[in-house]
Amino acid sequence: MFKGQTIWVTGASSGIGEALAYEFASLGAKLILSARREAELERVKAACETMGAMADDVLILPLDVTDEGAIASVTKAAHGFTGRIDMLINNAGISQRSLCIDTDMATYRRLFEVDVFGQIALTKEVLPIMLEQKSGHMVVTASVAGKIGVSQRTGYCAAKHAMMGFFDALRAEVSKSGLHVTTITPGFIRTNIATHALKGDGSEFGKVDKNIAGGMDVKKCAKVIMKGLSKRQKEIPVGEGSEMKALWVKRFFPNTLFKMVEKMG
Ligand SMILES: NC(=O)c1ccc[n+]([C@@H]2O[C@H](COP(=O)([O-])OP(=O)(O)OC[C@H]3O[C@@H](n4cnc5c(N)ncnc54)[C@H](OP(=O)(O)O)[C@@H]3O)[C@@H](O)[C@H]2O)c1
Repeated sequence: MFKGQTIWVTGASSGIGEALAYEFASLGAKLILSARREAELERVKAACETMGAMADDVLILPLDVTDEGAIASVTKAAHGFTGRIDMLINNAGISQRSLCIDTDMATYRRLFEVDVFGQIALTKEVLPIMLEQKSGHMVVTASVAGKIGVSQRTGYCAAKHAMMGFFDALRAEVSKSGLHVTTITPGFIRTNIATHALKGDGSEFGKVDKNIAGGMDVKKCAKVIMKGLSKRQKEIPVGEGSEMKALWVKRFFPNTLFKMVEKMG
């Protein structure tokens, strides 16, 4: 179903975004790949070409989602690629590994700039294009952390909860205009997310922790997401650890869940 569609993936230089790019490339989509590291995007584009994409099918548009001044011109370039944007996957993101007591306000602001305001700014720029088309699919990679608060993630959980709220509210506004909105809620997925996570002072955590090391394979994760996107699921939970059961516990037995996460510390 994605053949010939124009799909814009942010955070496409690594992890979930990269794995999604390969899935779309193999299905014959027209791809726009964004992230800050252009050399990594070139690597992903080259790999897409080994999966059946032609060089002209993949456009690299480097973008720092916190660079609000660049978002309009990059969106114009993205739209100019095929004259359409059928899907925007707001996937760029950074995590956190620090207790609240140790976290600088500047670090909270950085998490929100990337994980919240970057996504909102890009979505707002693409929205008029989709409304004009009378079709389009807005997607965000939120997280289980957008539903459950856990230790060492006060900023990240707040940001991902914000994204769940924003996109659920957006869906209520645009569904009558022919647009679809999907929130993806991954559990632990084996990517570079922990390595690039912020410590309290804003420096990088710089290592993989146990949960991420033992997380779901990213290719497997991308396949689950693709299935959900093809069905235009409103929410796509993806993961295979106990964190996925925690979603269910939170929904039906919130107090039990709060006790569980307190014990985890
Ligand atoms: N892995 C997990 O367990 C997990 C679980 C739940 C949710 N998620 C979410 O999944 C998304 C993808 O993360 P991942 O796990 O694939 O981690 P990852 O491998 O570290 O990928 C993160 C991506 O975001 C991009 N990025 C970071 N800051 C950016 C910025 N300011 N502007 C533009 N792009 C930026 C990075 O590219 P550059 O460095 O090149 O800019 C990279 O492509 C994130 O939103 C994350 O919160 C991950």
